[in-house]
Amino acid sequence: MNNLVEMKNIHKSYDGVVALKGIDFQIGYNEVVGVLGDNGAGKSTLIKIISGVHSFDKGGMYIKGVKINPKKHSVKSAHDMGIETVYQEKALAEKQALWRNVFIGRQITNKLGFLNIKKEKEETDKIMRDLMKFRGIGVGADSIIRTLSGGERQGVAISRAMYFEADLVILDEPTMALSLQEVKKVLNFIQSIKEKGKSCIYISHNIANVYPVSDRFVAIDRGKIVGRFNRKDISLQKLSEGLIEYTEKVTQNKQEEKG
Ligand SMILES: Nc1ncnc2c1ncn2[C@@H]1O[C@H](COP(=O)(O)OP(=O)(O)O)[C@@H](O)[C@H]1O
Ligand SMILES: [Mg+2]
Repeated sequence: MNNLVEMKNIHKSYDGVVALKGIDFQIGYNEVVGVLGDNGAGKSTLIKIISGVHSFDKGGMYIKGVKINPKKHSVKSAHDMGIETVYQEKALAEKQALWRNVFIGRQITNKLGFLNIKKEKEETDKIMRDLMKFRGIGVGADSIIRTLSGGERQGVAISRAMYFEADLVILDEPTMALSLQEVKKVLNFIQSIKEKGKSCIYISHNIANVYPVSDRFVAIDRGKIVGRFNRKDISLQKLSEGLIEYTEKVTQNKQEEKG
């Protein structure tokens, strides 16, 4: 199997709320896929199944060719398979220092199993300097998350993904509420993932952001994939127009159904 992740006919409900209805989704090695769709379409549910936050009810999933048991897949097993996710919701512990957030769940320990705090702080400072390019703005290993801007927090989550050298980085709406300059950083980061030969799933409302960094696009609506496009086959304008046209048609149909 040539795909990093392969999902076949995936179904998922939350206590009666159907979120995914038969999703076929693939992401290859060294590929960036942009996932598009309105609020409630099922985008976050899709990626949370890959990252082990939620299980699926029906269908099949393979990661690096290994068949996934939905009852056994977890955030930990996803990490172990090289999948890192930057969630839309607050993913960091607000009151904790930066260094603790970087190493949450994956502590550096010495031979006796004790936490190596000194090493974790040193590594965090290195991440700040080399990956995040935070220089001389007073952000360091001991900074408390609460004191960082939205963009800096996203930067921490993203840098953590880079530090652990994920094969697949999943970004769920990483550019919401970011300044233009911060958005640019996120886009540069996605480009660097591609250059390093790794893969990325990038979820966003903003097609103009997704377009230049993605190899392919997948559009989701009410739990189903409703469009698949290669960037080389479609211009940004055509893609935007197509999605708007689709949304209008759906709205029209809904109104007709209501009568
Ligand atoms: N934890 C949850 N519990 C119950 N329903 C949920 C939960 N997460 C998502 N949903 C529902 O599933 C559907 C898809 O949501 P989601 O995957 O978050 O969509 P998107 O990320 O595209 O906005 C929505 O109807 C949403 O209300
Ligand atoms: Mg979402």
